[in-house]
Amino acid sequence: MDESRHMSNNSFRMMTLIHDNPLRRVLDKPVKTLRAAGIRPGQQVLEVGCGPGFFTIPAAKIVGDGGFLYAIDLQPLALKAVNRKLRKAGLDNVRVTIADAASTGLPAESIDLAFLFGVIHALPLETVVPEIHRVLKSGGVLAVQTFSGRSLEGVTEGGLFAFAGKEGKVARFQKN
Ligand SMILES: C[S@@+](CC[C@H](N)C(=O)[O-])C[C@H]1O[C@@H](n2cnc3c(N)ncnc32)[C@H](O)[C@@H]1O
Repeated sequence: MDESRHMSNNSFRMMTLIHDNPLRRVLDKPVKTLRAAGIRPGQQVLEVGCGPGFFTIPAAKIVGDGGFLYAIDLQPLALKAVNRKLRKAGLDNVRVTIADAASTGLPAESIDLAFLFGVIHALPLETVVPEIHRVLKSGGVLAVQTFSGRSLEGVTEGGLFAFAGKEGKVARFQKN
């Protein structure tokens, strides 16, 4: 991975202090947020921009042995941090990969739910939205959590997704 394409190691460590802070578990309950996205046992799930894995471990527990979670991030430290947590939790239903959201490397129509939590502001939607559309199964859902108040029109404007509801900070879009 070209190092200029991901945040520096120090920036990632700074981000981890905020995004993996125990206080965040109180303010932004990960299981509640994941439920708002519509995650269910047995699903094939893609997490885009997993960072240090705040959502990865609870998501893996929810999908369970019958499901599988593909977690991707541009930053190699994310892979290390998440794999460490997975080993500690004894979970083996997750594959963490260094990959760009615009080119996940996943097979077409293989995913039930893709979630983008705390990352949409950093993504070029004109390339990421078609890639998510490609990997989702028919009727699959893209869930987006945003705190910025940023408009999510970019998700629907190409006609690939239709707005399917919002719960708290999580908006859901169904594949057209
Ligand atoms: C602010 S962190 C959020 C991490 C995690 N989703 C959370 O809520 O705790 C955003 C993460 O997205 C990753 N990221 C940014 N652009 C990306 C891209 N194009 N493809 C994959 N990951 C990306 C960054 O490396 C970073 O780890």
